[in-house]
Amino acid sequence: MSWLRPSILWQSRNDIIAKFLSDPTAAARARWVALARQRAQQTGAHPDFVISCSAGDTISMLVIGDTGEGDNSQYAVASPLADMAKNADFAVICSDVIYPTGDLDDYGRKFHHPYRNLDLPIYAVPGNHDWYDGLHGFMHYFCRLDDAGYLPQFGRGLVARLAGPLWRRLPQTNPATTGTVTDERRPPDPLQPAPYFAIDAGPVRFIGIDTGITGDIDEDQYHWLSRVSLDAPERPKILLTGKPIYVDGEHHPGRVTGRTETVDGVVTDPRANYVMAIGGDIHNYQRYPVPVAGPVAGGRTIQYVVSGGGGAYMHATHRIPLINVNGVDESKFRCYPLRRDSLARFSQVIDKKLFGGSGTITIDAPAAGRYYEQRGAATARSNRPVADRLSLGERIKAEVVHRIPAGRFFHRVGSEVFDFDDPPFFKQFLRIDVNNRKITVSCFGVTGCAGTEHTPPIEDQFTIIL
Ligand SMILES: [Fe+2]
Repeated sequence: MSWLRPSILWQSRNDIIAKFLSDPTAAARARWVALARQRAQQTGAHPDFVISCSAGDTISMLVIGDTGEGDNSQYAVASPLADMAKNADFAVICSDVIYPTGDLDDYGRKFHHPYRNLDLPIYAVPGNHDWYDGLHGFMHYFCRLDDAGYLPQFGRGLVARLAGPLWRRLPQTNPATTGTVTDERRPPDPLQPAPYFAIDAGPVRFIGIDTGITGDIDEDQYHWLSRVSLDAPERPKILLTGKPIYVDGEHHPGRVTGRTETVDGVVTDPRANYVMAIGGDIHNYQRYPVPVAGPVAGGRTIQYVVSGGGGAYMHATHRIPLINVNGVDESKFRCYPLRRDSLARFSQVIDKKLFGGSGTITIDAPAAGRYYEQRGAATARSNRPVADRLSLGERIKAEVVHRIPAGRFFHRVGSEVFDFDDPPFFKQFLRIDVNNRKITVSCFGVTGCAGTEHTPPIEDQFTIIL
């Protein structure tokens, strides 16, 4: 799958239509949630989509972000994940299960087969790409709900009326492919109740929200989020969201359609007892330990994490500006890959694409480390070697590669153009270990190199005392 193919970009056009013409996501989600409520009523399941995954005092779970391109970088992560799944209770894919458009026919190659050795239940929060087929593929596998007859609803204005004919409709599924798909992995047990849901596991509650295509949540989901966040105050909460709240040095509180409240307003409410919020969407790792008010004197810290490096193309970290946001600066910020390694790897990829791998524009990691150390970036403060000095040539190369945009046109097109499919990859996933006293979060780096296939290094680790 190449992001440079016009057909792939055309298939993903619902992103542009939803953002600029009319977004049918909220109405479609309301329909899915109505079906889920109906089923919960009939089966006597929890009316607010709360399931229980492990009643014991200690649990381990895995968080994988932005997975499904079905290529080498996804398979590289699948191998260490399978090792770690042996000692974990469940896993959650934090957004964008299937690229480019979430189709059910793609679940075989991009979900069931890569994860065939992960012997544990996998849940997921949908990302924008999962919504490009109206969430049908996602709902079929994770929630066992189907509604193929549903027609997307657009607004009434002239611009909104343009959206209907342009919108990519639900593709015909191929029974031959779909049949093999469902055989390879059984759906999670207990089943995921709805596109948004909560999992009580050990002493904590994980809350997964559905941020659709644009990142906004609807009013009904907001009321649900408030309820499941406040009705078990004794449980520390961990939010799982498609769109991260802190990312690339910016704060995105998460809008609620038609209201002034935000998702982050719920997360920072001391009564809700959140300790962490994890988002996908951006394909790298970032951590912002943000100081917030109350309830104890001196305040507390909420860990805001981006964890989207689960398989898809890498978003450059060297484009992240020096961090200074809501009490988090470079000394507290963490990312993977380090900016220096991101710059060095992109310089190789760009060199290969533009100069045939002649080394014209490549810069090595120790030199890139010196370059960022001089700029005051935290990435230089690591256990990796840093060059003593930069030659003029290295400085010019670093300046050039650093400036090549990986900006926000379409889906931040720079990083897709330079997608690479050979190691080292700089992928990552999280393992979260919980007991009654503390939560330990480990970010494992995955390079795709044989030496660390079964021993992925810990690139960041932190503890939350309960
Ligand atoms: Fe993504």
